[in-house]
Amino acid sequence: MIKTCLFPAAGYGTRFLPATKSLPKEMLPILTKPLIHYGVDEALEAGMDNMAFVTGRGKRALEDYFDRSYELEDQIKGTSKEYLLDDIRNLMSSCQFSFTRQEDMKGLGHAIFTGKTLVRDEPFGVVLADDLCINTAGEGVLAQMVKVYEKYRCSIVAVMEVEKEDVSKYGVIAGKSISDDLIMVSDMVEKPAPKDAPSNLAIIGRYILTPDIFDIIERTPAGKNGEIQITDALLEQAKNGVVMAYKFKGKRFDCGSVEGYVEATKYFYEKEFAKKKNDKK
Ligand code: G1P
Repeated sequence: MIKTCLFPAAGYGTRFLPATKSLPKEMLPILTKPLIHYGVDEALEAGMDNMAFVTGRGKRALEDYFDRSYELEDQIKGTSKEYLLDDIRNLMSSCQFSFTRQEDMKGLGHAIFTGKTLVRDEPFGVVLADDLCINTAGEGVLAQMVKVYEKYRCSIVAVMEVEKEDVSKYGVIAGKSISDDLIMVSDMVEKPAPKDAPSNLAIIGRYILTPDIFDIIERTPAGKNGEIQITDALLEQAKNGVVMAYKFKGKRFDCGSVEGYVEATKYFYEKEFAKKKNDKK
């Protein structure tokens, strides 16, 4: 039912400099697949096949990744290495890709607003690819959120509990508990100091947004760090209607930080390694 997934991917990735000087942070690999590939996999699993990217200067590698590479295809065709392209070929034949550019970095809210032309007037998913989510619960985080959307037909944010001292890295929510894993949002603060945080429930980079969010973003003044924050727009939406926070099942790695990135790499390596060992048996 939700067809489009938006991937805001214009950020600089300063925590990975100098690597990200000429490489988009979304192209950093976890083993052999770039982060963005995992995000697109998750969206596809959730039933979305229209992949919309908001990129920026220096991000052309993202477009090339989801395009055919004739020279490489020609070189590898019929060789023992051809299977290495299976994954990306399958992905490319299962979805469409569209791209637009954010000229100025004015925050996540502004990046999402820039994607309006690719989304049109429909609900859509949002994936921040540096939050890498692992399906340990039978289905991915976005697929779980689509189910919540089908029931409540409102914007949904994925949340997880974090240590109180870490709340200042996230958007933080508070609200009324509806069930074990659902909260009706009544408050939302972008990167609060621990003493000002309304709870320890942090938003991670997965959203389902209803299209009225675009008008709200347009009216949203710059907030934290002088940027237009999706968190502020969502609070406005919650005040005038309903926004749900969903405590997702699964594992999430913060691959926007070196520690999280290494942790994810280790996790996937051990999984692959265990699989190969099993295959040999
Ligand atoms: C963004 C959002 C924040 C959210 C986070 C999840 O922040 O603004 O509310 O908690 O993503 O990763 P960023 O990490 O881009 O600074």
